[in-house]
Amino acid sequence: MSIFGSKESVKDKKSLVIYFSRADENYAVGNIEKGNTEVIAEYIQDITGADLFKVEPAKPFSKNYRECCREAMEEQRQNARPVLKKYLEDISNYEVIYIGAPIYCGTMPMCMFTQLEKLDFAGKIIKVFTTHEGSGLGNVVSDVKKICRGAKVLDSLAIRGSMVYESKEKVKDWIK
Ligand SMILES: Cc1cc2nc3c(=O)[nH]c(=O)nc-3n(C[C@H](O)[C@H](O)[C@H](O)COP(=O)(O)O)c2cc1C
Repeated sequence: MSIFGSKESVKDKKSLVIYFSRADENYAVGNIEKGNTEVIAEYIQDITGADLFKVEPAKPFSKNYRECCREAMEEQRQNARPVLKKYLEDISNYEVIYIGAPIYCGTMPMCMFTQLEKLDFAGKIIKVFTTHEGSGLGNVVSDVKKICRGAKVLDSLAIRGSMVYESKEKVKDWIK
C-alpha cells in the first residue's frame, strides 16, 4: 500500500528530524545553552524515536543577537546557500521527515535551503515545525513545498521560542 494510503499514524513510521537551531544570545530569553528549535527536535525524538540531523553552517552565526540578525538578513538578501559543516546525502530510509527551523526574517535561515535542496523528497511525508517570536510559520511551509517536490506536507506546528519548555504536550498532540 502507498505510504499515503496507509492507516498507520506518522508516529509509527521511521522518521528523521532535519533542523537548524542556534544557542547563544536569543531575542526573547537572553543567553541560552540550547536553541529553542533543538528543544522541540529532541521532544520529537523522545516521542517518536526519530533520528536527528542538525544543519550547521561551516561559518556559525555570531553569538551576538544583533550581529546574527545582520548576518541572516544579508544571507537572505543575497539568496545565499551557505556551506555546511556536513551534509545529509540520503533520506531513502525514512518515510516521515520533520523539518524544523527558527523563523529568521520571515522564513528559514538560508543554511536550511542549502541542505534541503540536496535531498530527494519524492514520496516522503513532511511535517514542518518552527519556533518564532510572533511570525508563526512565516513562509516556511510554502518554501518547503517549493523545495521538497513530490512530498506530502502535512499539518505544521509553530511554537513561540520562549514557550518551548512548556510545549511538550502540544508536540505530542501534533504528532498524533
Ligand atoms: C537572525 C534572527 C532573525 C529572526 N527573525 C524573526 C522573525 O522574522 N520573526 C519571528 O517571529 N522571530 C524571529 N526571530 C526569533 C527566533 O525565530 C526565535 O527566537 C527562535 O525561537 C530561535 O530559535 P533557535 O533558538 O532554535 O535558534 C529571529 C531571530 C534571529 C536570531
